[in-house]
Amino acid sequence: MKPLAQRMQRSSTQYFAQLSAKIAQLQSTGKQIIRLDIGSPDMPPAPHIVEALTKGASAPDRHGYQTHSGPAALLKAWAGLYSRAHGVALDPQTEIVPLLGSKEGIFHLSQAFLDPGDVALIPDPGYVTYAAGATFAGAEPYFMPLLPQNGWLPNLSTIPLDIVRRAKLLWLNYPNNPTAAVAPREFLAAAVAYAHQHDLLLCHDAAYSQVSFDGYRPASILEIPRAKEVAIEFNSLSKAYNMAGWRVGAAVGNAFALKALFTLKTNLDSGHFLPIHEAAITAMTGDQEWVWERNEVYRQRRDIILDGLRALGLNPETPQASLYVWSPIPEGTTSSEFTNHLLESCSVSLTPGSIFGQHGEGYVRIALSSPTEEIMEAMRRIKQVINVK
Ligand SMILES: Cc1ncc(COP(=O)(O)O)c(C=O)c1O
Repeated sequence: MKPLAQRMQRSSTQYFAQLSAKIAQLQSTGKQIIRLDIGSPDMPPAPHIVEALTKGASAPDRHGYQTHSGPAALLKAWAGLYSRAHGVALDPQTEIVPLLGSKEGIFHLSQAFLDPGDVALIPDPGYVTYAAGATFAGAEPYFMPLLPQNGWLPNLSTIPLDIVRRAKLLWLNYPNNPTAAVAPREFLAAAVAYAHQHDLLLCHDAAYSQVSFDGYRPASILEIPRAKEVAIEFNSLSKAYNMAGWRVGAAVGNAFALKALFTLKTNLDSGHFLPIHEAAITAMTGDQEWVWERNEVYRQRRDIILDGLRALGLNPETPQASLYVWSPIPEGTTSSEFTNHLLESCSVSLTPGSIFGQHGEGYVRIALSSPTEEIMEAMRRIKQVINVK
């Protein structure tokens, strides 16, 4: 066999694909693993959403190819969501591109914008697809440290000028994965100003914008004046409506960038399954009350985890949003040694901070997306094998 394309040599199997194989192997030996590693909602979408899918799937005329932009009602539903949640007006024709999950769009945007020699500014720790997309395009990721003393926000003024000159994309993600940090409005405004100043496309990933607690409501980057001139936002129904497996997302905002992404996608995919889009419309336009009730379940789980960790002498911050608790680990170990130890000694799987970048070392990410009973049991097990104090 001849060698693979060079870009494949810059690519590796993602951590969770490897972890799932390891966990399957442990389960085959009878271990009852509790997975608090991946952020995949355990609860189903509300019944009216599932009904919309089954109704559509039962109809004989819903099974062909769709257009890439999906039904007009889908674009209208996304526009409605942005108007309701953020007071942002979107033109459905030019300012919304439906995605097969936001990960797809995040990866492909880099293919539309980056050439070898270009730079993408990427948070560290951060969601790994930003760097994967840049690297696959042959471009250079420049990692912006997110540090606890800066509230896990990048310090844009420290990025060297020669890097900024070569940079085309600036990735931000709030509420943040993995740190669960949220961004004050002033920071978002400063980031928009920075993108204007340096002619960057600001890509804001808002995958967790509908998972928040204690009355906190995450802002969209598009709420900032003149953001649309320089920014797009990635959004998703995966966490917002417990629809991770359904693969429904959107990119919204700057029309020039979205046209490029749309053009690329017309060469790649053939739209989505219409009944899934019909159910997505139902999710976004139907009853929203259940979303807040669901968030209340996550808040209770968050508090169980925080209480458990604090009783161990660890001191995580209280997240106001996202699906995660980001916790410091005991001294004298690395994050992957710590998660391996927990997996092997008490069958609890957490995510080591180091997989999100070098500045994630010293932390673990704990997902709120497993049943409350399992989370309680996981905290009991961890308490038995960890002695921090
Ligand atoms: C920060 C962030 N962005 C994007 C995604 C991708 O979500 P999806 O492709 O399901 O829309 C995830 C998934 O975990 C995420 O954590």
